[in-house]
Amino acid sequence: MFHYHRFVVIILVIILLTRFYYNTTIYRKEDKLEDVKSIHQPVKKILFWYERYKIRKGNVRVRVGQGSDSEAHRLTHCASQCDMFNRDRIVDWNTLKDYDAIVFHQHGWTPIDVPMKRWPHQHYIFLSMESSAWRFVDTKSMANFFNRTMTYRRDSDIFNPYGWFTSLNQSIIFDSAQIDSQTLHRLLYNFDPAINYATGKTKKVAWFVSNCKSLSARNEFVDRLKTLIDIDIYGKCGNMSCSRSNPVWCRQMLERDYKFYLSLENTLCEDYVTEKFFDQMRYHIIPIVFDLHGHHARIAPPHSYINAADYESVRDLANYLLLLDGNDTLYNEYFWWKKHYVTVGPEVSNKGMCRLCDLLHNSTIPSKTYQNMTHWWDVQSKCRSISFLDSNKDTSKNDVNFYWKSFLI
Ligand SMILES: *[C@@H]1O[C@H](CO)[C@@H](O)[C@H](O)[C@H]1NC(C)=O
Ligand SMILES: *[C@@H]1O[C@H](CO)[C@@H](O)[C@H](O)[C@H]1NC(C)=O
Ligand SMILES: *[C@@H]1O[C@H](CO)[C@@H](O)[C@H](O)[C@H]1NC(C)=O
Ligand SMILES: *[C@@H]1O[C@H](CO)[C@@H](O)[C@H](O)[C@H]1NC(C)=O
Ligand SMILES: *[C@@H]1O[C@H](CO)[C@@H](O)[C@H](O)[C@H]1NC(C)=O
Ligand SMILES: *[C@@H]1O[C@H](CO)[C@@H](O)[C@H](O)[C@H]1NC(C)=O
Repeated sequence: MFHYHRFVVIILVIILLTRFYYNTTIYRKEDKLEDVKSIHQPVKKILFWYERYKIRKGNVRVRVGQGSDSEAHRLTHCASQCDMFNRDRIVDWNTLKDYDAIVFHQHGWTPIDVPMKRWPHQHYIFLSMESSAWRFVDTKSMANFFNRTMTYRRDSDIFNPYGWFTSLNQSIIFDSAQIDSQTLHRLLYNFDPAINYATGKTKKVAWFVSNCKSLSARNEFVDRLKTLIDIDIYGKCGNMSCSRSNPVWCRQMLERDYKFYLSLENTLCEDYVTEKFFDQMRYHIIPIVFDLHGHHARIAPPHSYINAADYESVRDLANYLLLLDGNDTLYNEYFWWKKHYVTVGPEVSNKGMCRLCDLLHNSTIPSKTYQNMTHWWDVQSKCRSISFLDSNKDTSKNDVNFYWKSFLI
């Protein structure tokens, strides 16, 4: 009996001691983990609800949010850390609350396919790289749904442009919107190109276009312009072709043979400047844009492109192009900026995602909800179109059909 008691007491003491030991060590271990956490912020989780999205991993572009891809993609080269996930990967819907942001691409958005439950800490992100002009979605049904916007528009919470310009010398930044005409004149006057960019160029205007319908009326514009100056139209809407399988060769051919390139967007909305512009700015060719909102002046160096919208008649524009075509000095002045700036992008990838990731890590940013997306997206995008004056109705001008007017759509 006595032996039995001693045995029980010893067992109890052993149990207590082990519990104490484990409690303290486990406690210490947790303590250590907490320390580590406070130094390295936790990785935030971003879930893509519908649409694939391209990010850059090293030199490779990967798509997330696609098919049955079960990998988590760690955003690299960002200041803060985030993992990106595809919705199809979720096997346990109880884990939905673990996501810090859920990204909805406007193209796929429908009010009947949204998470069943949302948590107050989660950011619902409205993503779009297309302009609002096409009215893909019914924005009325987005009322009080989104917390943040991520688009090409400057006034988005997460500004995600197609590209931008960087000044090579940080102490010299020529802000196109600010620069006065005297300073610009001095810059151009002192510009002595080492090479003549017009040399060897035997053709005038080129246009690569695959979509013959647009909301910007660019085809109607080019139809008129080509009666006044030679335009080679490549692709479905013209009779020229350059193999898509060799894009580098096509670009070199463009740069070698042509003086101007039509960088015309399919919609005319504020800040909507795509790779159609940034791509051309890398080459020695002058892009012709149609900018009704003044956004090129905000992003690009002054006197680096021609804005067709500055000319109220297509004939005035054609005459100006013919003037440059006949005077290499004037033509070369459009390349003064190459010494001072480089083009970055098209970069529809990590930059915007890094900004989103930073926002998720920033606890001081106040919470926000977009009450009226019709207002923010459809109205504030300020999308416009143009039409040409009608020679039957307005006869006050000669060749009235070359004059255009713009209107909100
Ligand atoms: C940048 O511009 C400043 C002011 O004109 C000049 O002093 C400096 O040498 C330039 N730096 C480079 C790297 O060109
Ligand atoms: C394309 O059409 C224009 C006139 O519409 C014509 O002058 C030109 O020769 C054609 N080019 C080719 C490659 O067929
Ligand atoms: C070309 O334009 C420049 C600058 O306006 C002018 O000084 C020059 O005389 C022009 N050259 C010709 C051949 O017209
Ligand atoms: C967090 O957001 C605030 C307000 O927008 C901003 O002033 C601050 O610089 C941000 N902090 C970081 C670390 O980005
Ligand atoms: C997002 O908006 C919803 C709906 O108004 C709100 O409940 C939630 O707290 C907001 N989240 C953030 C992070 O702002
Ligand atoms: C949302 O904004 C649009 C455009 O400004 C306006 O017509 C509409 O009445 C607004 N809706 C609500 C519910 O306030």
